Amino acid sequence: MTEQMNKKHPLIALHKINKYYQMGENTLHVLKDIDLTIQEGEFVSIMGPSGSGKSTLINVLGFLDNDFAGEYFFQGKTVTHRTDRQISELRNRRVGFVFQDFNLIENMTVAENVALPLIYSGLSSHEARPRVQEVLDHMGIGHKLNAKPYELSGGQRQRVAIARALVNSPDFIIADEPTGALDTKTSRKIMDVIAKMNQEMGVTTVVVTHDPSLQRYATRHLMIVDGRLRESDVHEAEQVAEQVRQERLKREEDAQ
Ligand SMILES: Nc1ncnc2c1ncn2[C@@H]1O[C@H](COP(=O)(O)OP(=O)(O)OP(=O)(O)O)[C@@H](O)[C@H]1O
Ligand SMILES: [Mg+2]
Repeated sequence: MTEQMNKKHPLIALHKINKYYQMGENTLHVLKDIDLTIQEGEFVSIMGPSGSGKSTLINVLGFLDNDFAGEYFFQGKTVTHRTDRQISELRNRRVGFVFQDFNLIENMTVAENVALPLIYSGLSSHEARPRVQEVLDHMGIGHKLNAKPYELSGGQRQRVAIARALVNSPDFIIADEPTGALDTKTSRKIMDVIAKMNQEMGVTTVVVTHDPSLQRYATRHLMIVDGRLRESDVHEAEQVAEQVRQERLKREEDAQ
């Protein structure tokens, strides 16, 4: 085997990613020269002010957005020149998403929601069943298989969403403010679930969060300001998260 073949690649490597939105006559430059390498097993937190480009960045990371300049290497292979079909295959098999508002389908049962990625991969609902039961058991909500999302608490809904993200055994999980709609106690439990998933199952995890108490779960902290990304540390992350939290509270108060 050549040295090249022996070399282990990082899971993700972004080189000089730039992202623009065209707004009529104006061009909005949202991601600026982003260089980022994520190794397998890392737990990365991303934070930054509202509008700084966090969601845009994770949409690129998660193959939701393929319209950017620069080079994206996934497991050593470039993503940039793949066909739409190859990109949707990556999106469906390699990454699991967890969103702030859970994104569950209200008229489907818990089991049907969790089975969706498997069905998209070509399994029948009968074939999907054992795996769905397994991940739901793992999340501690195996007994809610036939419930509808509206019959669940916020924490239970987020567990269902995490189960759905994990069901295809993805290489990494992206969570965009997964605890943003939950109270403090439930947030901590959900973050414990995510941290355990990273530590015990070894799933690489990228989380956008502004909860100061959640920053310490991450093994690496990134800050994005005005489209530029840089490394940070847990102390700064906690401080900035607290600042963002205060600003949000103030905005909410002003709005009332
Ligand atoms: N589809 C779009 N078309 C045009 N502009 C967009 C689009 N999506 C986002 N933007 C703009 O890009 C910038 C970055 O948005 P993004 O959603 O990445 O911010 P964010 O850091 O996730 O903010 P928040 O903390 O509020 O979620 C913002 O100025 C936003 O208005
Ligand atoms: Mg966002």
